[in-house]
Amino acid sequence: MRSLLARALHKARPPFLLEPPDPQGVENNDEYINRYSMEYGVSRLPSDSPLLVIGSFCGLSTNVLTYYKRKHAKNNRLITCDKWEFERKHPADCLGNSIISHSEYRRFVRESYLRNIQMFSADDLPYTLEMTSDELTPLAADALARISS
Ligand SMILES: C[S@@+](CC[C@H](N)C(=O)[O-])C[C@H]1O[C@@H](n2cnc3c(N)ncnc32)[C@H](O)[C@@H]1O
Repeated sequence: MRSLLARALHKARPPFLLEPPDPQGVENNDEYINRYSMEYGVSRLPSDSPLLVIGSFCGLSTNVLTYYKRKHAKNNRLITCDKWEFERKHPADCLGNSIISHSEYRRFVRESYLRNIQMFSADDLPYTLEMTSDELTPLAADALARISS
């Protein structure tokens, strides 16, 4: 019971209360390793090139990356893309047996993302693109071609 409570409290902690992972400890779960990997990557960025988050959902990884950028004094621009379209269902259809429609859920997640980044990354807001990576790729290729020509 105590272990369950400790895990629940750990999961509820905001991203700015991280310690290095303890390979022997109960904290050695996927979520913890993901955050450790993000810090590892951000702290060793080899250039000032932008970072791209494909699929920002409610903004957790975006805020964690911003936090580690700040912690390690990295100025790489953070770009995120997500269209918040989760399933190819009619927007009026409900999620499973719930009373929540797909369009209501989409609006909720999109607004949660905006609220979360404004709360935790206000000093370094990411560039947020409301599009899929498939839609972004030709735009990025075109921009790169223009820069290099
Ligand atoms: C598992 S969530 C990502 C979790 C997120 N990184 C976080 O910090 O919580 C998946 C998200 O990826 C988005 N997604 C899936 N495929 C995508 C694509 N090709 N381009 C952009 N976003 C995508 C979905 O809309 C959804 O919001």
